[in-house]
Amino acid sequence: MAGKPKKIGVLTSGGDAPGMNPCIRAVVRMAIYHGIEVYGIREGYAGLIRGELVPLTARDVSGIIQVGGTMLRTARSPEFREKHGQREAIRQMNEVGIEALAVIGGDGSLKGAHALAGHGVQVVGVPASIDNDIWGTSMSIGVDTALNTILTAIDNLRDTASSHQRAFLVETMGRNCGYLALVAGIIGGAEMVLVPEKETTVEQVAKEVEDAYLRGKAHAIIVVAEGSPIKCRALKEALDELDVGFNTRVTILGHIQRGGRPSAFDRLLATRLGVHAAELLAKGESDVMVGLQGQEIASVPLEEVVSRRRAVNPEYFEMAHVLAL
Ligand code: ADP
Ligand code: F6P
Repeated sequence: MAGKPKKIGVLTSGGDAPGMNPCIRAVVRMAIYHGIEVYGIREGYAGLIRGELVPLTARDVSGIIQVGGTMLRTARSPEFREKHGQREAIRQMNEVGIEALAVIGGDGSLKGAHALAGHGVQVVGVPASIDNDIWGTSMSIGVDTALNTILTAIDNLRDTASSHQRAFLVETMGRNCGYLALVAGIIGGAEMVLVPEKETTVEQVAKEVEDAYLRGKAHAIIVVAEGSPIKCRALKEALDELDVGFNTRVTILGHIQRGGRPSAFDRLLATRLGVHAAELLAKGESDVMVGLQGQEIASVPLEEVVSRRRAVNPEYFEMAHVLAL
């Protein structure tokens, strides 16, 4: 374990997530409280390689707690995946005297953090991704806000769906993970949820939608995860052709799910995780991620985080199905 660093850097990387700003604020202020100087790194690993490092004071992170996105901006950096990119990043850190790093991002960014730790850099990761696919934390920063955005959309769509007796196919983000679709489907009262984790066929979907029509439902909401092998537009054509009772419309929610004011839950989670990350850095700890486990914030080795993937709760599949009766 290293001693307390004098200077640390903080960066956000990969897809942005609402709550990254309150997390940056917490890292910066808690580190300053511990007598550590903080540098903000702009645009994730790409900015680190270019040496875009700016000193941050407690005042520099004022007024961001309620703002979506990330004040440090974010990026994806193919160069950083390679050894030469990581070497350039370390060189830039050395030039400014930055001894340790807080990395706020998704599973890819945490792999990058682990790679840096492998080169001897002191690193603590913070899980931030709307996908909720990161091992070692029951919730990542941004998930709750994204779910609330999806719920607003589903609630609005249900109004018009009922008025017109239509089926709506609503596509949610999540890359290869069905968490957002499944949970939004349960708490949004969807008739069906299609996720990559559970196989189904177009014929099965058509049958369930037609059954819902026969049971007297005024609408059918089908939440489709972007990673589902059955895609919204193809499914719409198939349902229209098979004539399932309802007319069908498609809504792709897209990046609207990644923006917006962080919810109360996300602000608290981001703040607690940021505080904990700064405290671990002050103690000289490295190669770990902070995560929510039960009601507590715990640390998990990055080696474990990057070699596993958080799966959706299998009980949710049954729940989504039964409650759509
Ligand atoms: P997220 O962090 O949201 O999952 P990405 O998967 O795009 O987003 O990863 C963000 C960045 O993290 C990448 O552009 C790359 O610079 C870095 N990264 C991803 N995977 C690795 C890896 N295996 N090794 C080193 N760096 C990685
Ligand atoms: O990982 C977050 C995420 O929003 C995924 O849900 C989605 O697949 C991807 O990022 C979209 O990436 P981009 O912002 O590059 O379009």
